[in-house]
Amino acid sequence: MKNNSAGKVVVITGASSGIGAATAEVLAKAGAKLVLGARRLDKLQAVAARVLELGGQAEVMVCDVGRREQVQALLALAQSRFGRVDAAIANAGFGFAARVHDTTEEQMEEIWRVNLLGTWYVMAEAAPLMLKQRHGHIIAVSSVVARRGLPGMGPYCMTKAGQLSLVEAMRVELRGSGVYVSSVHPGYTETEFFQQASRRSGSAVRGGGKVQNAQVVARKIRSLIEHPRPELWPVKMLRWAMVLTAMMPGISDAAIAKTMRPRGRLL
Ligand SMILES: NC(=O)c1ccc[n+]([C@@H]2O[C@H](COP(=O)([O-])OP(=O)(O)OC[C@H]3O[C@@H](n4cnc5c(N)ncnc54)[C@H](OP(=O)(O)O)[C@@H]3O)[C@@H](O)[C@H]2O)c1
Repeated sequence: MKNNSAGKVVVITGASSGIGAATAEVLAKAGAKLVLGARRLDKLQAVAARVLELGGQAEVMVCDVGRREQVQALLALAQSRFGRVDAAIANAGFGFAARVHDTTEEQMEEIWRVNLLGTWYVMAEAAPLMLKQRHGHIIAVSSVVARRGLPGMGPYCMTKAGQLSLVEAMRVELRGSGVYVSSVHPGYTETEFFQQASRRSGSAVRGGGKVQNAQVVARKIRSLIEHPRPELWPVKMLRWAMVLTAMMPGISDAAIAKTMRPRGRLL
């Protein structure tokens, strides 16, 4: 696989806003061919128009990642339109705030279906076609919370940890096949995410720590596509914080309890 993005065929789920839309734009500037999926067609079309202005090519399709046949159709569109899939980015996702024991079964099922099952659909559908091509890169947009559950957002953290587990397993399963598998672990990024999470939670949900711009995260995702590696942590310091957290869970609990309210903050 070439190690620049020009001409690469990249499928992105959740491309109608935030990190997904910014990644499409950054890759468009590099001359990539994009296949963009999400539920809001008008927003996808606006992203596709920007991609064209920036010198890329784009196809869009309504795709709810919780429906396997729609994920299949998105990947099939990339193959029929551009002949292959060089990278598939499972980015679609949402969050909400609720304590573990207050979460309803419907909330749990929905977040599991979109964030985790939706990621697995991309991985499970992209892998066979990439193995046939003998190259490809599957990328799951997880979070810093993949490595530490946070109070007031256990179900969201669970899906992010689940994504990381799938990526770690698959990366070794496909080792040597030409298909690479990576996870991305953004910290607090300025997107629609918190607006959507607040709407779902019925109370304000805010991020914590240093805020990043979606374009910054997107540029790092571009570099991940060009130079595959196991994990991308856009805020490097948070990676080390998570290592310490894993080594000292009791101290980490105390520090988190002191700094966070039980509800209302998503990292
Ligand atoms: N923002 C942060 O601070 C942050 C931090 C760590 C990780 N992340 C992760 O980054 C990813 C992107 O989030 P973002 O921050 O860019 O938020 P965002 O602006 O809200 O974007 C979320 C995207 O996911 C799509 N989506 C939601 N449900 C979907 C479904 N069922 N099927 C298909 N698409 C769906 C949305 O499009 P439609 O509504 O049009 O379907 C939208 O394009 C998420 O996985 C999130 O967990 C975000």
